[in-house]
Amino acid sequence: MRKALIAYFTGTGNTWFLADCLAKELRDKSIQTDITALEHINKVDLSTCDLLGLGFPVYAGCIPYNVWGFVRRLKPVAGKRAFVFSTKAQATAGSESLLARLLILKGYRVLAARSFIAPSNETLLFGPEDVTRPEVRAKLERLRHRVPGFVERMLSGNGVIEKNNTFMLLSSILSGFSFYLSTGYVSNLLVTDDCTRCGLCEQICPAGNILSSLTRPRFRNRCVVCERCVSFCPEKAIVHPVTFVRTSLRYRVPGYTPPVLRKPTG
Ligand SMILES: Cc1cc2nc3c(=O)[nH]c(=O)nc-3n(C[C@H](O)[C@H](O)[C@H](O)COP(=O)(O)O)c2cc1C
Ligand code: SF4
Ligand code: SF4
Repeated sequence: MRKALIAYFTGTGNTWFLADCLAKELRDKSIQTDITALEHINKVDLSTCDLLGLGFPVYAGCIPYNVWGFVRRLKPVAGKRAFVFSTKAQATAGSESLLARLLILKGYRVLAARSFIAPSNETLLFGPEDVTRPEVRAKLERLRHRVPGFVERMLSGNGVIEKNNTFMLLSSILSGFSFYLSTGYVSNLLVTDDCTRCGLCEQICPAGNILSSLTRPRFRNRCVVCERCVSFCPEKAIVHPVTFVRTSLRYRVPGYTPPVLRKPTG
C-alpha cells in the first residue's frame, strides 16, 4: 500500500480528532496519508490513493445523510481498499457496516469498519458533555489509544466489519430514516435575541442551511443536525426548541476549527 486518503465529516471535532490520529498512525507505518474534510473532497483526486478511510459521527444510530450522499456519488472502482470509522457517544446500530456495504457496492474492498466512543456533542435532547472536565478529556485520550490496535489489525488482514448482520443494518436504516424525516420538526433550530449578526454560523454550516446571517440568520430545510453552528456561535444564540435538558453548555474539541465555506449574506 502506497498512499492513503482519510476523508471525514465532523460537526464538533471528535471525528476530525480520530481521523487525525488514524492519519498519524498510518504515516508511522510508512504509508503516505492525506486527510481531508468532506466539505473539501471535490478538491481532492481520489484516484491517486489506494486506501480510502471514511469517517463520520453517528446520528440516531445511522450515517449523516451528507455522508450517505457522498458515497452515492462516488465513482465505481475495482477492488480499491477502504476502511470505515465513526465516533459515537454511546451506541450505534449497524451504521459502520451499512457504510461498508455501500462502499462494497461501489467496488471497494472494505478492510475494517468500527465505531469509537467519544464525548457527546448533542444539545438536541440530553445536552453535551463538558470538555473542560478531565473525565471527558480522558475519553478523547482513550480514543487515541484505540487507534494503533485498529490500524494494526486492519493492515494485517484481521480487521472486522462491526455489527455486520441484517438486524443491525435494518435497525440503522430505520432509525436513520425516522431521524431524517423528523429533521425540520423536532430537530429544527432557532436563533435567540443574543445573536449579534456576526455571520459565522452561515460561513461554517456544512449543508448551506443558513442564510442572511448579517441581518438575522434563517434556516433552510437541509440541516444535517451536526451541531456545528450551535457549538461555535460565540453568543450561544442557536438553540433547538425541543430538548429534554436546557443547557448553556456547548461541546467542541479543543484545537478543532471548522472550515470557512462561504461568505455571510444579509
Ligand atoms: C443529532 C445527533 C444524533 C446523535 N445520535 C447518536 C446516537 O444515535 N448514538 C450515539 O452514540 N451518539 C449519538 N450522537 C453523539 C455523536 O455521535 C458523538 O458525540 C460524535 O462523536 C460527534 O462527532 P463530531 O464531533 O465529529 O461531530 C448524536 C449527536 C447528534 C448531534
Ligand atoms: S454565529 Fe451566532 S451570533 Fe453569529 S450570526 Fe450566527 S447566530 Fe448570530
Ligand atoms: S444549520 Fe447548524 S446544525 Fe444544521 S447543518 Fe448547518 S451547522 Fe449543522
